Amino acid sequence: MERTFLAIKPDGVQRGLVGEIIRRFETKGFTLVGLKFLKVSRELAEQHYDVHRSRPFFPSLVEFITSSPVVAMVWEGDGVVAAARKIIGATNPLTAEPGTIRGDFGINIGRNLIHGSDAPETAKREVALWFKDEELVNWQPDITPWLHE
Ligand code: RTP
Ligand code: MG
Repeated sequence: MERTFLAIKPDGVQRGLVGEIIRRFETKGFTLVGLKFLKVSRELAEQHYDVHRSRPFFPSLVEFITSSPVVAMVWEGDGVVAAARKIIGATNPLTAEPGTIRGDFGINIGRNLIHGSDAPETAKREVALWFKDEELVNWQPDITPWLHE
């Protein structure tokens, strides 16, 4: 089953949007399989954003993600990687569609509330980076027959 890595960034936590953000994935019908609340180390931040290492905004990205706690999550479901990116919305909240998390709650690209893996291969790397195997829960909700034919 496909999995994605999502993280509610420091701004989402500080603004009290943890419940609202989790609700969107929960009510959509995806399955939560991993969840933790943590202060991100510089080492983890640099590994997570490794692909952006040469970009001018890399130092501020690392500074921001380590500045205050985040909620790290793994969600499961068919097509969850692409669907989560749609629920999250475009990188710049100013141009993100209303109805998306960034479109509804943000105005600045450096304060865009939530991270989501951008492809299934990236998701595998990020899930393994943030979670140990034993921190992930293999389960199937009892409502599954009401979500899938
Ligand atoms: P994310 O990785 O956080 O889910 O966001 P994303 O895929 O939509 O965007 P990505 O290109 O991966 O960029 C990672 C984060 O870097 C910040 N950013 N700033 N100033 C800029 O031009 C710029 N571009 C990107 C954003 O906070 C973005 O979420
Ligand atoms: Mg990205």
